[in-house]
Amino acid sequence: MELALYAPGLGYYGGSGPGGGLRPVGRGGDFYTSVSVGETFGWILAHRIAEEWTASFARDETFVVVEQGGHDGRLARDIVGALGEIDGALPDRFEYRLVEPRAHLFESLAEGLADCPRIRVVPSLAAARSSCGIFLCNELLDAFPVDLLVFEGGEWREKRVAWDAAASAPCWTTAPLPESYAAFVGELGKGFPEDYTTEVCPGIEPWMAEAAGLFDRGLWWIVDYGFERADYYLPERTRGTLRCYRGHRAGEDPFEASGEQDITAHVDFTRVEEAAARAGLRKRRLTDQNRFLVSAARPWLLSIDGRAPGGADAKRIRQFQTLSHPSLMGAGFRVLELERS
Ligand SMILES: C[S@@+](CC[C@H](N)C(=O)[O-])C[C@H]1O[C@@H](n2cnc3c(N)ncnc32)[C@H](O)[C@@H]1O
Repeated sequence: MELALYAPGLGYYGGSGPGGGLRPVGRGGDFYTSVSVGETFGWILAHRIAEEWTASFARDETFVVVEQGGHDGRLARDIVGALGEIDGALPDRFEYRLVEPRAHLFESLAEGLADCPRIRVVPSLAAARSSCGIFLCNELLDAFPVDLLVFEGGEWREKRVAWDAAASAPCWTTAPLPESYAAFVGELGKGFPEDYTTEVCPGIEPWMAEAAGLFDRGLWWIVDYGFERADYYLPERTRGTLRCYRGHRAGEDPFEASGEQDITAHVDFTRVEEAAARAGLRKRRLTDQNRFLVSAARPWLLSIDGRAPGGADAKRIRQFQTLSHPSLMGAGFRVLELERS
């Protein structure tokens, strides 16, 4: 999964798009994200950022927003553009830092954002560090490689990729479970049907430990689709959540069209919360995107209540409905808010 997604020049996110560039997200790509719905997601986040800044950070000299997984910088542009229009929202020493650790993608991202002086592309979370600020990521963790676990013959085993020499193609095999998962499957128990397959994301713990070091005081907003653990590992979820996306169609074969289809898994938010607690962050809340956006957009929603919206408001309302309606993106996407104060 790591290679299929990230191998430089070949992986889906490694620059395997036209001309060695990034693959588009949204209508012309393989899947939609809240960012690709339009500028409303960033616009609402900007209002929330301004509110948090005024309430908690205004006495600080510098204020940064750090984003990771920002792809081509679209959300960065939307947020910085919207902050610029909110009176007094931007302190003089505000900076938006976009983390891009992959050297072969760094230059083109920095060049593409050169017209935005408030946005700086940085090569690591450590390079984005500040005394205070807000971290955010949208659909970063669902793109982290996962390990597959399978319940076979009454035991948990690891499902691994092997090479079928006769067919000259990758194939599946199973192997004894690595010791590092013993405690986890001990917690899951054995009440699962034969061939039950699920995932664990080993990258969350080290990533959270690093991301938690960003600020002495700050907020962390992790937006993604996923479940809490009890829901994630329900015995009825027999095929797990690993899915592939190409041309807006979901598939389940990660060996197909390697480097040309997205491979993703839902996020176990309990794992993220546990890692955050170990890293010294406090949970503020885990909520769905609907509740998060409705509360962040409340002043705007009240301002348009009872009048026929036109122009920019009408477009914003359409996008807001897509982002917040439970049957669209409002319920499947969650927002985990963490803090250190
Ligand atoms: C599903 S896409 C989401 C893109 C964008 N945030 C959006 O919502 O439209 C996941 C993005 O995370 C990026 N990514 C994955 N691992 C990363 C890492 N360690 N650091 C920075 N970006 C990463 C991928 O390259 C890809 O652009």
